Amino acid sequence: MPGPPVQIWYKISEVNSEELLQTLVRRTGFVQQHVKTLQSLEAVAAPLAPEIALAFYDYLGRDPEMHEILWSVPGRVERLYQSFALWYRELFSGNYDASYARRRIYIGLVHARVGVRPGHIVPAVGIVQELTLEHLRNALRGAEIFAAISAFEKIMAIEIALMQESYFAALWEGLKSTQNEHEALVEGARALLEKAG
Ligand code: HEM
Repeated sequence: MPGPPVQIWYKISEVNSEELLQTLVRRTGFVQQHVKTLQSLEAVAAPLAPEIALAFYDYLGRDPEMHEILWSVPGRVERLYQSFALWYRELFSGNYDASYARRRIYIGLVHARVGVRPGHIVPAVGIVQELTLEHLRNALRGAEIFAAISAFEKIMAIEIALMQESYFAALWEGLKSTQNEHEALVEGARALLEKAG
């Protein structure tokens, strides 16, 4: 049976994270085997989090626009090393429930609020994938590599979709008060984050 129309998520101010997550799980074909594989990778992947965080912000900082956003606020990047590492470790927690989805939606809204344009997100996700695959290829052997990559790609597809939904929700909310797309994203995200408390 087809799920609810996608637009439903943009229209509600408080995104229904449980339903949204279930929809994405179904759409991406994320099954129990992927959950188990990701959990089994935790021992290999979690210790990499600080290293991946460093490489990630090093990459982002090479783009002038992202550099400005990241370094315009004192202490921001230092704080981000910690929050990114936590986000990264959670990819391998094996616990992908409504509160996982809510945290991801919140993170997406934080990005929209600080003015990270949506076009920056997918390339950044690509960097996370590249850095991770390189490590997994070195740490694992044979069939393990394929299973690891396929599970990792599934969770990343869910991550991208959650980020995208956050941006759409922010845009939808913001368009109520302005027709300027960028302002709508920032203001809409601010309003949704305020409502979320
Ligand atoms: C794979 C993509 C990305 C991930 C996983 C990620 C992860 C995170 C996380 C976990 C937070 C903390 C949210 C919170 O709890 O407050 C955050 C905030 C932030 N991110 Fe990202 N990020 C990504 C892409 C980007 C990009 C492309 C930029 C562009 C400059 C960026 C800039 C920021 C900024 C400025 C903040 C707010 C920092 C603050 O608290 O002042 N992020 N990010």
